[in-house]
Amino acid sequence: MNQLSVQHLLGIKHLNKNDIELIFKTADHFKEVINRPIKKVPSLRDITIANLFFENSTRTKLSFELAEKRLSADVINFSSSQSSVKKGETLIDTANNILSMKVDIIVMRHPNVGACDFLAKHVTAKIVNAGDGTHEHPTQALLDSYSIREKLGSVAGKKVVIVGDVMHSRVALSNIYALKLQGAEIKVCGPKTLIPKYITSLGVEVCPNLNEALHWCDVANVLRVQNERMDVNYFPSTREYSQLFGITKKILDSLKKEIVIMHPGPINRGVEITSDVADSSQSIILNQVENGVAIRMAVIYLLAQQIERN
Ligand code: NCD
Repeated sequence: MNQLSVQHLLGIKHLNKNDIELIFKTADHFKEVINRPIKKVPSLRDITIANLFFENSTRTKLSFELAEKRLSADVINFSSSQSSVKKGETLIDTANNILSMKVDIIVMRHPNVGACDFLAKHVTAKIVNAGDGTHEHPTQALLDSYSIREKLGSVAGKKVVIVGDVMHSRVALSNIYALKLQGAEIKVCGPKTLIPKYITSLGVEVCPNLNEALHWCDVANVLRVQNERMDVNYFPSTREYSQLFGITKKILDSLKKEIVIMHPGPINRGVEITSDVADSSQSIILNQVENGVAIRMAVIYLLAQQIERN
């Protein structure tokens, strides 16, 4: 199979195992390209891509833009804080205006769950979800699994614990779907108030004790506490949170094995992870960022193959 089974990348939920394998195989090729002296291929010279960011982003936005440019696509960027959205324009009107400029692919981050699905139903461009509220962040999950595969040889059979604010995290949900598809075992660990009740229905176990979870796992994917998505206090204090759920060098040294540490960024050093852990040789945080470009090149390249070109 050298075609994706989907027309858009709205979430991992819609992908199958072959899609993930195809994306990884394509990303392997692009990873080799971005490590060449000339880090660019002409594949998408005839394609125009709009990056619509209705929410803050550093890594994801830069990573998509770089991926698109390394495929030689024409790229336009839009950020809602500097746009007519502030003047009351609707999402569809914004998107249709951009499409009139002959855009083929829209990459969108939006605070509302389902915004990308909605757009995919109403406009003719291909849509790539770069994070929709607390729902999905498919390219992050793909680059996370790709980084585990690179570090440990495969994802199947690996034990992964997702630590922290699972409730407000689109990274957690997309990771759960992606890891499950590839046959990993998953536990989540965090304050009870930040672990949604439905999580066990996804085939995930809850482990409330960090020490136990870390002893069990091969990989810990650490999440930021997403204060901007909280309307009430979910735990007494940041100090208590980091005492119970912060990953420190002391805890890692007490394990009788070397586990892999991941984090999607941005990191809150000293809260969910200490600096010596984030910067340690066990951490693959910067490899994740590097792999993000190759994964996004792969996703965009594969979607662009479905566009009729003349
Ligand atoms: C994450 C996000 O925006 O969902 N970051 C990212 O895309 N690399 C996680 C977060 O904001 O904590």
